[in-house]
Amino acid sequence: MAGVLRFHVSSSKNSVAYKSVTKQSFKRASVIRCATYTPKKRYTIAVLPGDGVGNEVIPIAVEALRLAGSLEGLELNFEELPIGGVALDLVGVPLPDETLKRAKQSHAVLLGAVGWPKWDDHPKHLKPITGLLQLRAGLEVFSNLRPIRVFPQLIGSTCLRHETVQGVDLMIIRELTGGIYNAHPRGFTTNEKGDEVGFSTESYSSSEVDNIARVAFEIAKHRRGKLCSVDKAAILEGSMLWRKRVTAMALDYPEVDVSHLLIDTAAMDLIRHPKQFDIILTGVMFGDILSDLAAVIPGSVGLLPSASLGHSGPGIFEPVHGSAPKHFGKDTVNPLAAVLSAVMLLRYGLKEEKAAKRIEEAVYDVLDRGFRTRDIHTTGTILVGCKRMGQEILNSLDAKVLASNGSLVYELLKINNNKCDIVK
Ligand code: IPM
Ligand code: MN
Repeated sequence: MAGVLRFHVSSSKNSVAYKSVTKQSFKRASVIRCATYTPKKRYTIAVLPGDGVGNEVIPIAVEALRLAGSLEGLELNFEELPIGGVALDLVGVPLPDETLKRAKQSHAVLLGAVGWPKWDDHPKHLKPITGLLQLRAGLEVFSNLRPIRVFPQLIGSTCLRHETVQGVDLMIIRELTGGIYNAHPRGFTTNEKGDEVGFSTESYSSSEVDNIARVAFEIAKHRRGKLCSVDKAAILEGSMLWRKRVTAMALDYPEVDVSHLLIDTAAMDLIRHPKQFDIILTGVMFGDILSDLAAVIPGSVGLLPSASLGHSGPGIFEPVHGSAPKHFGKDTVNPLAAVLSAVMLLRYGLKEEKAAKRIEEAVYDVLDRGFRTRDIHTTGTILVGCKRMGQEILNSLDAKVLASNGSLVYELLKINNNKCDIVK
């Protein structure tokens, strides 16, 4: 049953009824889940399911967070807020002030997707995606981390050669709040011939490049120490400055092996030889294109999570896929991108690595047990819908893998006078 959450979306409007997706109940396994001891830490998570399939995948990510958190003694409070088309329908703007305010006050933001065909022909300030751009700007999340990993279980889901993609583990680090998406001047005008002109500015300042480059170098240092910066320095001035600053910063990181590629070559190399990459550092638009292109490597955009982080304050954690109007309401989409975004929320947002690992292992376990949504389904595996995939993730979270003998041991939690006992 969907619950109804009431909240104020703007001080000038009355409170509105909002159909909550986080209150949906999932069919439970036969075990009862709860913390085995009093919660040590409390966090507030702003949940913004947004439009379309965001409403199908986010409830699953929320349940996974709730359960993994409780197993690690964390109390996560979820506060659901509107953004995108849902917000436009409710209050006429894609990012209500109240949503931004509460997102700022939260420890992390879990976001679904924004966009719906109904709003396609509306002016930019009345488009759902404007809400997302405003949220990114409002939270000053300038770095967008998009890991691309090929799960060994899913090697059959790619259309590329298996030997090309096997073992790929790279991360696109994309600048998010500057560049052509955000820089001024931009707009519409008329030229001397009387032609209508639309224009945007591709510009990067030294501090914008330094901020994102620093994040990329720091992450590269803790991975395989390889960083490839992608630009169009042969033509664009913003890219020329970008390359100059990245080259200068490389001097601070002698342990990181730095290379530079032009975007066109990078696109080709990413598909031909993806294994050569560890970190790809790039700007907002090249990063947008490369990350969808990179979805071809594991085989589905339904597998790609992301994290958007600033210097401080809450990050935004969202699947890379969009609202997918064509697939909405059919219970067919892949919730793994959202669930893996929940992993990133715990890992990078809350720094709760143990809880992050629990969900990550549950994803592995579900794939080991052969469950696949349509986008990654291959012969010999079990085709399931979005909800069932979610339930299997929860079942796996209930199961604890014992590393010593590799066998699955289920820790059954039994409620006893509101306390939980572990029944082994
Ligand atoms: C993404 C999306 C967004 C972007 C849109 C919805 C603004 O495509 O997160 O990749 O281009 O950043
Ligand atoms: Mn995109």
